Formats: sequence, structure tokens, C-alpha cells
Amino acid sequence: MSRKRSAQVSTTRKTFGQVLVCLGCCCGRTDKGHPEVPVEWLKDQWRKHMLPKKVHLTISGCLGPCDATNIVLVMMGDRPVWLGGLETREHYQWLVDWGCACDAAGRLVALPGNLAPYRMQRFAGQHCYTPDFEETACCRAEDVAWKY
Ligand code: FES
Repeated sequence: MSRKRSAQVSTTRKTFGQVLVCLGCCCGRTDKGHPEVPVEWLKDQWRKHMLPKKVHLTISGCLGPCDATNIVLVMMGDRPVWLGGLETREHYQWLVDWGCACDAAGRLVALPGNLAPYRMQRFAGQHCYTPDFEETACCRAEDVAWKY
């Protein structure tokens, strides 16, 4: 027997976005030849900059595309941006910088352009929408920010 819902499901924990960092069967597994994922450093950075209430950080189990290694899913509001092949702490620093930029702006802002080369197409038969990175050749940051 199903229950009817009388109101839309809601949450008081609304953030600008969410970063899901994969630490599954392959990503971050240096014993399998994958680059390290600096999880504790990343958590410290998130706390240090008080980002959890602005951009939620989730350390995730396997997100699926293991072969692309060190996967990060950035939820820009309802819009997913898949990144793969992150190798250095600097790459994760760019995610911290993006969280700080969202915090400073009080809204979702474009991802740093230096993360653009790490974007990947996750699903078959589905094109990525383009305007998610700042100052790329095809778009400007002000065209891709949303106010919440
Ligand atoms: S372990 Fe990261 S995608 Fe599978």
C-alpha cells in the first residue's frame, strides 16, 4: 500500500552544490597504480574554509568509471559535471578554490577553467552541456552562474 504525499519533499540542508570524491575499488588505490586521493587533506580544507554548509563534500565508494581513474562528480545544483584523471593535490586544490569562490559569491559560480581538461562524458548517448567552466573559449563565467 502506498502513501500519498501531501507536500514536496524538502530539506533545510540546501547547499550551492556538492562534490563527490571517489575513493572506491580503484580511485586513490596507490597499491593498484592509481594516484593518491588526498582525502584527509581535502576534508581539512573543507572544514578550514567552513565549506560544508556551502558545498557539500562526500567521499564516495565506486562511482562507476574506474578506468578513467580518480573520479570526481561535481553537482552544480542539479547539473552533474564528471571529472576524471585527477592526479595531484593541485587538482583537488582547484575544487577547494571553487568551493571558496561559491562561498565568497554567495552563489554557485563556474568551475575553474583549469579543471576543464579533466571533464569527461560519463554516459552513453548523452552530450555534456558546455558552459560549466569559467572563461573558456565557448562561454563566460557570468553566463554560467546561477543565483539561489
Ligand atoms: S573506484 Fe572510482 S570510479 Fe570506481
